Amino acid sequence: MEPIIIILIIFVLISSILFPPVMVLYAFIALYPIGLIIKHKTGDFHPHWTFGGDQTTQIYVYFRSQNSITCRLTYKKTDSIENKDRWNSIDEIDFLVSDYNTPKVKTDKHGEYIPKSRSESSEKHIFFIDNLDPGAEYEYKISDAANETQITSGIFYTQELVPETNFKFAVFGDLQIAENLEIIESYLLYLMRKNNPELILSLGDNVHKGTDINSWRIHSVILRKLLASRPFYTTPGNHDYSDDYGYTMANEALMLPITKTDRWFYSVRYNRVYFISLLTRMLSNEVLQQKQQDFLEKELRTANALINDDKVDWIIIFTHVPWWGPPYNRHKVIDEQEQFIREHWVPLFEKYDVDLHFAGHKHSYCRDKNKIITGSMHGVRNYPEVTKENYFLRNSHQFCLIHVSKNQLKIEVKTWLNRNIEVVKFQRKEIK
Ligand SMILES: [Fe+2]
Repeated sequence: MEPIIIILIIFVLISSILFPPVMVLYAFIALYPIGLIIKHKTGDFHPHWTFGGDQTTQIYVYFRSQNSITCRLTYKKTDSIENKDRWNSIDEIDFLVSDYNTPKVKTDKHGEYIPKSRSESSEKHIFFIDNLDPGAEYEYKISDAANETQITSGIFYTQELVPETNFKFAVFGDLQIAENLEIIESYLLYLMRKNNPELILSLGDNVHKGTDINSWRIHSVILRKLLASRPFYTTPGNHDYSDDYGYTMANEALMLPITKTDRWFYSVRYNRVYFISLLTRMLSNEVLQQKQQDFLEKELRTANALINDDKVDWIIIFTHVPWWGPPYNRHKVIDEQEQFIREHWVPLFEKYDVDLHFAGHKHSYCRDKNKIITGSMHGVRNYPEVTKENYFLRNSHQFCLIHVSKNQLKIEVKTWLNRNIEVVKFQRKEIK
């Protein structure tokens, strides 16, 4: 063996013993060529699903194939003896995509956005499944139209008629998938899955370049085990939204709920929690922002009414850009975004007693009272760390695991070593 190789191996061994985290760097260097292979490999997206308007009986399954084909979905209840061999079959739909409305920005320097024609032959497929049984789990297969070749499979489930009070969900931010093999991201997602959350919230910047459809495909590969079995909701980040105003994200990667007319901001009621996602891009577009402002007030009013009727316990807002935390020095535009949110949205959050806020974007974990920035899954920034009861900051890769019960939200803040940075508990206010 060449002496230089022997010296290199000795150096790697000694440095790994003295400083174990450096092994991540070595693994990254060793596996980088595999990342490049993945980048250039083509193939189908892995499917994902969300609830329909009636979460007890309706489901949407989304799937993007590499080739232009006609698909069919078959499904049946998991472990159902009476339905053992009875698979129901449905054909894909496509009509809702034409309802998609890209915000038009005539004053923007790019002018009004017109989607470019794409050279890829890949194709999106949407399946809408209705008349399901409440509180049931189903397995599904996607095949070619003749039902001869199975392309992919997964499971989905419907909500119970009486929503559960206790459950667990996970929140993460800034995966920012690029062309490399995403080791830390993949490992954090593995840890998250091991903790078995029922629902996943992603706080935006899912990929580094939102107009690159291949990054979204890698995103679906890395998240496949989570997406195959749990509903996934995200909010658009600046990288996702990119310079095509989110066309690729919403229309081609299909990462936003399709049940809403305007998918950039939406609400999801899961069990007894009312989630609201807001778009922190396009804040200077007055027409869009008036629409979002009206939406927010209407949603908060609805959520409060449901709390008064004892049908909902918690209101949680999730956005990409936060309006708290350390200053994001390099970008003046971020300060303007934060200022906009403080002026226009925060008074409503206070008026309607929002319980908890999640945001990403700043690439470090930061909690300011009931407002949490999740640490990035991608890169970490280096802000001054703070440990106070009402303000806590750590520069770390991490995700949050939230245990929901009637009177308490307990948040475990997990690192990539599966350790808790902190555990925070929020009690429910008796009178809202
Ligand atoms: Fe961001």
